[in-house]
Amino acid sequence: MLARIMGKSRPRVYVTRTLPGAALETLRARADADVWQGEEPPPRAELASALQTADGLVCLLTDVIDAELLADAPRLRVVSTMAVGYDNIDVDAATRLGVAVANTPGVLTETTADFAFALLLSAARRLPEGERTVREGLWTTWSPAFLLGRDIHGATLGIVGLGAIGRAVARRARGFGMDVLYHSRGRNAEAEEELGCRPADFDALLSSSDFVSVHLPLTPETRHMFDDDAFARMKPTAIFVNTARGPVVDEAALLRALATKRIAGAAIDVAEVEPMAKFDPLLRLPNLLVTPHIASASVATRSRMAEMAVEHALQAMAGERPSHCVNTQVFDA
Ligand code: DGY
Repeated sequence: MLARIMGKSRPRVYVTRTLPGAALETLRARADADVWQGEEPPPRAELASALQTADGLVCLLTDVIDAELLADAPRLRVVSTMAVGYDNIDVDAATRLGVAVANTPGVLTETTADFAFALLLSAARRLPEGERTVREGLWTTWSPAFLLGRDIHGATLGIVGLGAIGRAVARRARGFGMDVLYHSRGRNAEAEEELGCRPADFDALLSSSDFVSVHLPLTPETRHMFDDDAFARMKPTAIFVNTARGPVVDEAALLRALATKRIAGAAIDVAEVEPMAKFDPLLRLPNLLVTPHIASASVATRSRMAEMAVEHALQAMAGERPSHCVNTQVFDA
């Protein structure tokens, strides 16, 4: 399963999947690269064995890099993930061991915001149901009350988490003539002034929004932030959009909210457990639109994410601080 290019006294990097674009060429010009060729993540035993000799690890969000793996990686200097989210990596353990952790923020902001908006539009105007209707031969006539959706213009969008992606979604929302509320850790004067976003506490945002879009990292504080109580506060006509991380939502609560029509619909690109099982009860609900964690999946963005992940690994192995390092204290000593 492994493709290896050997060289002399060059750093050795383990890459947990083949990467798009020219990233692997860049890596191989300066390091020995072991690339897992499988479609699925490498098994834990494979990863553990690779980390016995690796100076660097380039991984994906599907690879669980925990304290136990890190503790048994004697030469490891960097874990560079091809993602902005790094909840799959035990950053505290890495920091204790002096291992840098790098991620790829910024580059996927606009692409992810495009996709969040695509989900919002599709769910609001019932695109998947419309498409299924045509394919199933059920388009028999034009009918005044057939497949009625919700207007986007004039509606209120509640953005939970006004980081870079949240702000990019807010910009799109303004272009579509929406009112935008936001709930974030602090006030964002720039977004309020430039984008006309209005701050709201979490409960007020939920009860006033026609659409709620999540743009939060997964942390102990945000896990299951969207629970029965949160869905109960939303309008029965509301549509919930999640392109962030699945476990921010209690999926059992989402299932109840959708099945009982407590909310009108949801459009999610992420699931509590990924990949979602074929027989997951959520998939039986017509008011759920689901995609397989592809919000950043444009040709250009995924290539750039891969290049950045490789650049960060090379920087750290050369003793430099990666351009995007989440535990900079490793370089402070
Ligand atoms: C990320 O980078 O964290 C995204 O979820 C990948 O699209």
